[in-house]
Amino acid sequence: MQDTPFLDQVESSDSEAPAPRVKRLHVRTYGCQMNVYDSERMSEAMGADGYELTDDIADADMVVLNTCHIREKAAEKVYSDLGRIRKLKEERTSQGKETRIAVAGCVAQAEGAEIIRRAPVVDLVVGPQSYHRLPELMARSRAENRQIVDTEFPEDDKFSALPERKPMRGAIRSRTAFLTVQEGCDKFCTFCVVPYTRGVEFSRPVAAILEEAKKLASAGVREITLLGQNVNAYHGDALDGGTASLADLLNRLSDIDGLERLRYTTSHPRDMTDDLIAVHRDNSKVMPYLHLPFQAGSDGILAAMNRKHTGAEYREIVARIRNARPDLALSTDIIVGFPGETDADFEATLQMVRDVTYAQAYSFKYSSRPGTPASTMEGQIPEDVKVQRLADLQNLLNEQQLAFNASCVGRTMPVLFERPGKLNGQVIGRSPWLQSVLVESAVDRLGHICDVEITHGGPNSLIGQIVAP
Ligand code: SAH
Ligand code: SF4
Ligand code: F3S
Repeated sequence: MQDTPFLDQVESSDSEAPAPRVKRLHVRTYGCQMNVYDSERMSEAMGADGYELTDDIADADMVVLNTCHIREKAAEKVYSDLGRIRKLKEERTSQGKETRIAVAGCVAQAEGAEIIRRAPVVDLVVGPQSYHRLPELMARSRAENRQIVDTEFPEDDKFSALPERKPMRGAIRSRTAFLTVQEGCDKFCTFCVVPYTRGVEFSRPVAAILEEAKKLASAGVREITLLGQNVNAYHGDALDGGTASLADLLNRLSDIDGLERLRYTTSHPRDMTDDLIAVHRDNSKVMPYLHLPFQAGSDGILAAMNRKHTGAEYREIVARIRNARPDLALSTDIIVGFPGETDADFEATLQMVRDVTYAQAYSFKYSSRPGTPASTMEGQIPEDVKVQRLADLQNLLNEQQLAFNASCVGRTMPVLFERPGKLNGQVIGRSPWLQSVLVESAVDRLGHICDVEITHGGPNSLIGQIVAP
């Protein structure tokens, strides 16, 4: 059983009388880390309303699908899942049990009432900027026996309206946590739905972030990953009334007792400022790992994507970061088959990967998204070409990932242990470079950072032995 910092905080009932059955909530999360964070906050909001989490969807009185619209496949998955959930609901209804269904997240924002038209089983559609109203909207849908769609971008800031962080019973607890500091995007890359689903760029004030981070640290969290669709464009209200950059925020957070490691994702190359690069050099709590998408290697495609940087500029930014922090490892996002991409353009993408070298990467076939400028561009690439390019690219990326992991063998590195392994006595942690590290340990290491000597580097993880303390 996983040790939990949060369980201690959950108040138990003192009542002697048999408690009524606690209502159960099942949350399914698609998409990015921000959705993981949003799912936690929605769960906590429902927790404050008397719900407990369950992994078993058949046992759930309420189901929330927290959806992603980034690629067609992700968006369509929601509808196939809703088909299965409809059958489950019918079964439960025949047993006299109620099941309420909410669709949240970016598909909710993008498609709104269309979701109810396609899947009438849905009771509530709630967008990423109004989910703090989830308990109230669900109660209203139930009381008035009607379907509700709320995809507003309300004035009341969801972060201040949400209950305080109090991760609920049944949540996957960990020594690492996500914390959203920035949301939305004003960059309008021509392939991307995020500016439409998440709205304009917005940064939370430093004070609110510090408060949330302190809560997490006092609940046992040792590592926080700051989240934002453009996290390095962060510019929130500072404590002294001015504006804080992400560098300022990281420096503030690193003063919190018990918080040992900081990360942030996702960054745009254009916003990799000198002060942020300096933090990687000067602040030892900021991990030597950076996710820096480049999307495509050719300048023509980068321009058509409206990425606002060239290949040479990206290389130059990487050189400056590695100069400041020589042991920094990079990961990235890459799209193949953007409209108009020629063999030579694709070769420039492969060349960028060969030149920069990545410890890890996410690569995707371009997916045409309704309403985005790229969806109507000429030169859409046939599926078989995209499939071949993706396979070639992933071969190269897999080689680099394995080479990076293999290069760790024989080295000793600090590992933060966060969950038990599959077998008795095994424990799994994270290296500074976000690799999963498996060790055997007779004592409970969860939440501790120990020096581990790496004995094996596989494609997706490392194996090692604890050497200290
Ligand atoms: N804000 C981040 C990216 C968020 S979306 C950034 O700018 O780096 C995550 C990744 O999904 C993107 O980096 C991109 O590689 C991929 N992506 C976005 N839209 C896509 C589309 N239409 N087709 C394929 N991949 C896409
Ligand atoms: Fe999408 Fe581009 Fe904004 Fe990233 S920077 S969220 S890819 S529009
Ligand atoms: Fe998907 Fe929305 Fe995140 S579209 S990637 S869930 S911001």
